[in-house]
Amino acid sequence: MNTIDNRRSIRSFKDKKVESEKIEKLLRAAMQAPSAYNQQAWEFIVVENKETLSKLSNMSDYSKPVEKSALTIVVSANEDNLTVPECWQQDLGAATQNLLLEAVEQGLGSVWMAAAPSEDRMEFIKDLFDLPKNIKPYSVIAIGYPQADNKYIDRYVPEKVHYEKW
Ligand SMILES: Cc1cc2nc3c(=O)[nH]c(=O)nc-3n(C[C@H](O)[C@H](O)[C@H](O)COP(=O)(O)O)c2cc1C
Repeated sequence: MNTIDNRRSIRSFKDKKVESEKIEKLLRAAMQAPSAYNQQAWEFIVVENKETLSKLSNMSDYSKPVEKSALTIVVSANEDNLTVPECWQQDLGAATQNLLLEAVEQGLGSVWMAAAPSEDRMEFIKDLFDLPKNIKPYSVIAIGYPQADNKYIDRYVPEKVHYEKW
């Protein structure tokens, strides 16, 4: 099964540290993403500290997987480096997805939790990490060794494909 088919959101993790070499591979994959005008305006906060993970897991009712993750990465944009500001969320979406796919390659599980566009969630992260004004949190990715194997689900729907015209 290929990497794309094997990726699923994983919300339960083993109590096992992720090796620093693997963490670098995740970050390298994220930074290989396409971006508008190649602006690469992303920044990453890697969190392994249990106390910080516990606090970060309160971002929303749906961010509980963060608490038991081996690490969580907060993907943000640096406004000072945005040459095409209107594309910042698309760029960071591509970086986030690259990171999720590399996690599969590394035998890890992960789940994407949205910070942007929720002002409340973005503010929560800004406060927690005391971020400078120019940093806009985008996604929060909980990562670790998965408790269970991924299950493949075929989501191909031919009716959603329109050839040449609607
Ligand atoms: C923008 C975005 C926000 C998401 N937010 C959350 C979240 O807050 N909590 C969570 O557990 N999963 C979250 N997910 C994961 C989705 O629930 C998941 O991708 C979807 O149910 C499909 O399942 P799969 O990832 O296993 O294929 C989010 C996914 C995306 C792309």
